[in-house]
Amino acid sequence: MSDFQLTRTLDDDAAEKALRADVLHGLTQTPKSLPPKWFYDARGSDLFEEITRLPEYYPTRAEREILLERAQEIAAASRARTLVELGSGSSAKTRHLIEAMPALDTYIPVDVSESALAGAAGVLLASHPGLRVHALLADFTQPLHLPESPEPRLVVFLGGTIGNLVPAERATFLAAVRAMLSPGDALLMGTDLVKEESVLVAAYDDAQGVTAEFNKNVLAVIDRELDADFHTADFDHVAVWNREQEWMEMRLRARSELTVKIRALDLVVAFAAGEEILTEISAKFRQEGVRKELAAAGLELTQWWTDAAGRFALSLSVADGEVRTGSLGG
Ligand code: SAH
Ligand code: AVI
Repeated sequence: MSDFQLTRTLDDDAAEKALRADVLHGLTQTPKSLPPKWFYDARGSDLFEEITRLPEYYPTRAEREILLERAQEIAAASRARTLVELGSGSSAKTRHLIEAMPALDTYIPVDVSESALAGAAGVLLASHPGLRVHALLADFTQPLHLPESPEPRLVVFLGGTIGNLVPAERATFLAAVRAMLSPGDALLMGTDLVKEESVLVAAYDDAQGVTAEFNKNVLAVIDRELDADFHTADFDHVAVWNREQEWMEMRLRARSELTVKIRALDLVVAFAAGEEILTEISAKFRQEGVRKELAAAGLELTQWWTDAAGRFALSLSVADGEVRTGSLGG
């Protein structure tokens, strides 16, 4: 028996309109920038999965270590019947959590990548035939309309994807998550932690060049969707640690002076030699910072777990002021 539904809150027209607006805005301002969600077409989603297996890219392994160790504890604390996952991708790590939740009725993965949602659902339904999977093709930074499903709900946001939002976006996003939570619900969030610069730079500039290809994929997306003539060979992948902001930056640097035509926008974009497009920030956190950002959104941090090497953290939080019984919230 398979119980799968996909709701598209983003149709092709809406997605193309959003891409046009982001590209027009991002490439006509100084410095140039593009939002990271446009990495994730089918090729970008595959490249991200390849990144998760790279020797230098520790976050996925560190988060999986914590999940494997804490899945029973998280399941017991949340008693969730619905699992909502934002930016679910392949749902590969989430499977450890689902396996620890025998009472789980519904899994709601939310992602902008239809290929990732379809792939994840196929694998999950094959191994959990009783589970309802209701996938949402949606942008998690926009208002979400979740389908009806049994309570309590556990909302999960893994991988450190919160770090791909700038602080103001994080505040809006966390407030929207808070508004999603009813009494008895909880948020489980993964955050990568501040560490030595050399470890961070290697994680975002791997020896095999997979992250460079992932970064350049955004140019291929713009070429295909907006009839542009970016040549990926004209740009270098750059990964820089921003010490003041405590975030990694991925940029694409023009190797020479050049122009790019974006026909769907009737736009010609000029690049000076060495000019860069900021394509992603990936913020690294400290426990106090996470606690404060959660608190500002009306969420109370109740649990904080790290991997043995202290590279990555998972936090559990609930709506503040909520009186909890059981192990959650103490
Ligand atoms: N959670 C997974 C995947 C992380 S990669 C993991 O931990 O491995 C980030 C995922 O978020 C991708 O699948 C991407 O398609 C999705 N994503 C990025 N920005 C998004 C947005 N604004 N709305 C919805 N999904 C988004
Ligand atoms: C999805 N996100 C948390 C990844 C990160 O580490 O910021 C995306 C990524 N960018 C480069 N490598 C991986």
